[in-house]
Amino acid sequence: MKNLNPIEIFVPGRVCLFGEHSDWAGGHRRTNSEIAPGAVIITGTNQGMYARCSRNTTKELVVRSTLTDGSSTEIYRVPMELDLLQREAAAGGFFSYAAGVAAYMLDFYGVAGIEIDNYKTTLPVKKGLSSSAAFCVLVARAFNQLFQLGLTTRAEIEAAYQGEIATPSRCGRMDQGCAYGQIPVMMNFDGDRINVQPLRPGADFFLLVADLCGKKDTVRILSDLNAAYPFAKSESDKRVHRCLGTENKRLLEQACAALEEGDAKRLGALMTEAQAIFDENLIPVCDELKSPKLHEVLADPRVAEWVTGGKGVGSQGDGCVQFICKSTDARVALSAYLKDQYGMPCFDLDIIRPSSIRKAVIPVAGLGTRMFPYTKGVPKTFLPVVTPDGIAKPVIQVVIEEALSAGVKKIALIIQPEDASRFREYFNADVPSATIAKLPQTLKKEVERLKEIGTRITYIQQTEAKGFGHAVLQAEKWVNQEPFLLMLGDHLFQSNNDRSVAAQVVGLFQDFGDKQSVVGIYEESLNRVKHYGTVAGEWISDKTMQVSTVVEKPTEDEAQTYLSVEHHGRSIWFCVNGIYALLPAIFDILRLQAASVEEGEVQLTTALDTLMQRDGLKGLVVDGKHYDTGIPSIYAETVAGFSNHSAVFAKATPCYGDCELECKKNARY
Ligand code: UTP
Repeated sequence: MKNLNPIEIFVPGRVCLFGEHSDWAGGHRRTNSEIAPGAVIITGTNQGMYARCSRNTTKELVVRSTLTDGSSTEIYRVPMELDLLQREAAAGGFFSYAAGVAAYMLDFYGVAGIEIDNYKTTLPVKKGLSSSAAFCVLVARAFNQLFQLGLTTRAEIEAAYQGEIATPSRCGRMDQGCAYGQIPVMMNFDGDRINVQPLRPGADFFLLVADLCGKKDTVRILSDLNAAYPFAKSESDKRVHRCLGTENKRLLEQACAALEEGDAKRLGALMTEAQAIFDENLIPVCDELKSPKLHEVLADPRVAEWVTGGKGVGSQGDGCVQFICKSTDARVALSAYLKDQYGMPCFDLDIIRPSSIRKAVIPVAGLGTRMFPYTKGVPKTFLPVVTPDGIAKPVIQVVIEEALSAGVKKIALIIQPEDASRFREYFNADVPSATIAKLPQTLKKEVERLKEIGTRITYIQQTEAKGFGHAVLQAEKWVNQEPFLLMLGDHLFQSNNDRSVAAQVVGLFQDFGDKQSVVGIYEESLNRVKHYGTVAGEWISDKTMQVSTVVEKPTEDEAQTYLSVEHHGRSIWFCVNGIYALLPAIFDILRLQAASVEEGEVQLTTALDTLMQRDGLKGLVVDGKHYDTGIPSIYAETVAGFSNHSAVFAKATPCYGDCELECKKNARY
């Protein structure tokens, strides 16, 4: 078996959005088939557990865990022997979860030793967010990936569940749903059978979860409600069955539709309705569910201004409350209000519309002749810029961060072979600890950021600089028939709104069902169009053009005669800004083009023209500014303009999807 490098794993906690208690209720179908199956919708939290994992040769399970506040680290070590692991699991405590899962993986898959460095945990424990299940999933996934077992997420869930029930902790069957990450999933419970269905949100939803700081007795709640099962003995028992059965199913179906349609208003209203039905049918059999704090907050008219609806969380009672907020600004206001008025700590929960574009290609193998002689020594993509927050970075890092802000998970850099060590040195080599020690606190997080970025990069060599199109073609195998984001390695972007420029382009690609390629475009002055790909076409909305002509670096005359476009009553020019969301069909075209070009460059714009004629092409006038770094005079303007950009900056995305860097804290897209 191939020896693998350490891998990074992030597992979030989970929140139950709808259907609480129906999981165990549906389990009673084992004995009473009259009971309706249970169903829940859960979603992963923004917070979670982070770990670096590797195989070891000592045949031990080694777990290093750093406390949530980062204050101290504990190390746990146990030989990978079934008896020992089972005993350790039964003994209880945090590490028993790892032992329980390791025992299961050893028993079923014959795995050997691993090391798990759980270096960071941002998930609050004992708040009904399934932190123990998250840890069990993390351990199962580490074994799965390190030993290349090829287990599905569903199988990881099973391993995590079996591992956790080998410990004294008792978990529900929905807890391990966090294995699906920050994707909402619907889980169905029919006796012992579970069925999991990932959902595809049609928009972003902004939830706020607040700790009611009240009392809740989960054991009491469970025991009161369970008294109505498996056979209803009274009218009130029947109402419990109906509430957790048929009524729940009806609400769940509607909630799935609202989620997939991206309808936050409807989803909020359904939460409010779910709470009303829950109260009406379950409070009569369980006093604990009267939850005065929960109901006080839910009934507060000020709260209603910011939300479309809300309900309790988990087993309910005065534990936590969740709201669907009208916007991120509304969420900020609500969070401040709940803290001031009720002293309730809050945390954000984002449900993000998934990106169909997971990969980005960034060619940086050009000769950079216009930046000679600088480029004799250093590729131009290593030119420095200062970001608006005052950090000096090479251009390539800013370009990569823009790509990640669009939800991309993997990056291919197309490089010249002789530059390989320079890129690896920057993105993949460790920063010496003596340097880290001297860094101010604000720059220390940059070390982590670089490390994180490094794990996402694949380097692909372009052995001859045969043009931008040829560089893109080198990534064909890596892209593997998926739509992908293409970005120039020498252009930078700053959004004027809270969605990054790359995210705007990817967003339009998704809005049209991933069916047509999209290029970002911007208004350019006539005397500069000669530097750029220029487009013309018909407007299908204020910002969206159905492109009918693409010309690479037209002359001023050509542009004036053929390429001007009417927009808002003016006759102007639009150029390609260097961000493309492309269908993989572009590779077929580039391949043919490369085969027919004997000398000269393979131009992307020529291929784009063919793609446009075949499948159509949309141009999006992005709301933001772009900066070129590949021409000396324009680079000089870029350096000044880029660091001074003062509009509302795009808050970069949960780019990494699974890191806690600044960009994620500001996450919106
Ligand atoms: P440019 O058109 O700016 O070309 O490339 P260039 O070679 O970098 O610079 P000049 O024109 O000689 O001054 C646009 C992007 O495509 C990459 C470049 O690195 C840049 O990010 N590129 C270009 C390649 O990767 N390979 C090539 O053969 C050409």
